[in-house]
Amino acid sequence: MSLNIKNNVYWVGKIDWELRKFHGGEYSTHRGTTYNSYLIKEDKIALFDTVWAPFSKEFVSNLAKEIDLSKIDFIIASHAEIDHSGALPELMRHIPNTPIYCTKNGVKSLQGHYHQDWNFNVVKTGDRLSLGQKELVFIEAPMLHWPDSMFCYLTEDNILFSNDAFGQHYASEYMFNDLVDQSELFSEGIKYYANILTPYSPMVIKKIKEILGFNLPLDIICTSHGVIWRNKPEQIVERYLDWADNYQENQISIIYDTMWNGTRVMAEKIAKGIKEGDKEVNVKLFNLDKRDKNDVITEVFKSKAIMVGSPTINRGILVSVAGILEEIKGLKFKNKKAAAFGCYGWSGESVKIINAILKESGFNIVDEGLRVMWNPDNESMASCIEYGRQFALNVPL
Ligand code: FEO
Repeated sequence: MSLNIKNNVYWVGKIDWELRKFHGGEYSTHRGTTYNSYLIKEDKIALFDTVWAPFSKEFVSNLAKEIDLSKIDFIIASHAEIDHSGALPELMRHIPNTPIYCTKNGVKSLQGHYHQDWNFNVVKTGDRLSLGQKELVFIEAPMLHWPDSMFCYLTEDNILFSNDAFGQHYASEYMFNDLVDQSELFSEGIKYYANILTPYSPMVIKKIKEILGFNLPLDIICTSHGVIWRNKPEQIVERYLDWADNYQENQISIIYDTMWNGTRVMAEKIAKGIKEGDKEVNVKLFNLDKRDKNDVITEVFKSKAIMVGSPTINRGILVSVAGILEEIKGLKFKNKKAAAFGCYGWSGESVKIINAILKESGFNIVDEGLRVMWNPDNESMASCIEYGRQFALNVPL
């Protein structure tokens, strides 16, 4: 039920093995997730965050077995999003006057969600809360990833409670980073960064540098999703600095959808040309109708360049391509090249449309793109191969 983290710090959250979609249907969670809540039992008792609303009663019932609820002195609401604040209404029914510590934006957001006049206490960076022998130090972390987000540091135990930052949607009964499969852990970690934190990368770097500048000893990072970083916690901090710095690998992703296989054939021939142009580059193809969009976005994040393909339909592009491009636009990727391609039978607008969206999304567009009328014949396939070859030559890592 609870899990001891260090000394008087306990995990009291929920492991959600069943979750397959998060943020509505916006984020795929192939490996489930965890909602991490923490209980600190010093002279004063503090509770960090709660869990998602469907687990409210289970959470409060389990918490009441750990501690007499009336003995909780402080609730720390590091972030108001429902996956962490969802059990607050149920908890506050039992202890309605308990002070809730959060940022100014946290008050707005919690009131906006629950319309309750709870006992809010606004904190700012550097504010401290005594638990007796130890103190909690608050650090505002706006846009990591909401305006209300904050970190908190527990002195003596040297624990950073980082809320969503450094997290992963990853269910594991092991709960510690050194116990789980490392490939799974980092694959979920980079997916989480790519899909959630990419637009805020400049703020990620700034905040990490600010915290490192405090020269605080760091033994453990307690995130609000996935594993707790107790073994070399600095490794995830270093990864974040890397990911936030316009991260890219020697990879080109070709993402497309197709109606009668013409655009698929183009994608495959372009891939052939890329390989001819650069034997070292990792070329990956993703049919958007068959692949999970968040996994594809992770691959876009890792790529130095992308090629996006769609046939023309009703003077537009296929919905799977339009959908992922909308999401890619919001993620504000930087320092990536791009090109568009697609088959057409009549009007043939798709390539122009894709290029316009990619340009608006901040990609460096290499040219006007490649269109093929009807099903690619030998000559068209040769032009696709040549197009891929030239593209590879133009995007060195
Ligand atoms: Fe895990 Fe932003 O909520």
